[in-house]
Amino acid sequence: MRILSGIQPSGTLHIGNYFGMMKPAIELQARGECFYFIADYHSMTSLTDAAERRRNSLNVALDFLACGLDPKRSVFFRQSDLPEVCELTWILGSLTPMGLLERAHSYKDKTAKGISPNFGLFAYPVLMAADILLYNANLVPVGRDQKQHVEMTRDIAIKFNQAYGETFVVPDPEIRAEVATVPGLDGQKMSKSYGNTIDIFGDEKATRKKIMSIVMDSRTPQESKPDADKNLAVQLLKLVAPAEVSADIENRLRAGGYGYGDLKKALFEHYWACFAPYRARRAELAANLDYVDQVLKDGASRARAVASGVLKTARQACGLE
Ligand code: ADP
Ligand code: TRP
Repeated sequence: MRILSGIQPSGTLHIGNYFGMMKPAIELQARGECFYFIADYHSMTSLTDAAERRRNSLNVALDFLACGLDPKRSVFFRQSDLPEVCELTWILGSLTPMGLLERAHSYKDKTAKGISPNFGLFAYPVLMAADILLYNANLVPVGRDQKQHVEMTRDIAIKFNQAYGETFVVPDPEIRAEVATVPGLDGQKMSKSYGNTIDIFGDEKATRKKIMSIVMDSRTPQESKPDADKNLAVQLLKLVAPAEVSADIENRLRAGGYGYGDLKKALFEHYWACFAPYRARRAELAANLDYVDQVLKDGASRARAVASGVLKTARQACGLE
């Protein structure tokens, strides 16, 4: 089974990215052959600062490797190191109905927020389809917000296969129900574009401050809180703390006698402990950038070994060869 996913270098990675996509992707390394990449072409639809893209791409590589992506088991590469994906984007785009792209939630959300759309943003799902189909992926681990994009990939693959003969594998999304949408500090979906994130490798003082300033209701510590499971900090605690710890704190909130200050302190402590081993590993990697560079170079050549065969088959199927 081939598993594939990508993450954009459009900002600093947060625990929504980690629990929604990176952790499942890392765990899937035990279940199949994984292809993971830094989606730098996709980041061009929203980021126009070259230095920032370079810096973010390096940080995504460091974050992913530090959190457990194993380059011996997985093919880890930068999307733009294989410009073949752009050729496939054109081939697939010529079969993609405008109506399909007009219905994309993420495109509609972005334009509704006043972002003036460019061609790249509109074509974003086609590039994503090319990413997935170029490597014959069966399974795509993502957070819920990307589900529709994977469904569009399926539609596009089926369309191509109908028009030109069986060529592409039709992939399935893999979405973990319990972390499908990690909430941010304001209760909305955690997202770099909403400024409500807890970064995976955030600064200690700044992150403590962010967590301690989560807004709660005005019930005193003594009061019982029967709706403790709905509490934002409890939901986040469940992700970063051992199950018995979060269950115990939830019970104490229900019983009364446990206040929000203690809850937020516990959340910070467990967040910090959860990522501590990865933080140490990240510092080692950051001191050895030649190694990181080599990992991405090797990844690109292993990715090309698959991509060139698939692209050739597609070119032949549609009469370009
Ligand atoms: P952002 O919304 O912060 O820009 P991206 O769109 O770059 O995040 O998402 C990268 C990956 O992380 C995707 O697979 C996405 O589904 C997942 N992801 C992002 N935010 C969350 C969240 N709050 N909960 C679960 N998964 C998320
Ligand atoms: N669109 C995805 C996101 O924003 C990133 C991505 C690009 C991706 N290509 C992909 C994810 C292919 C899975 C498969 O998170």
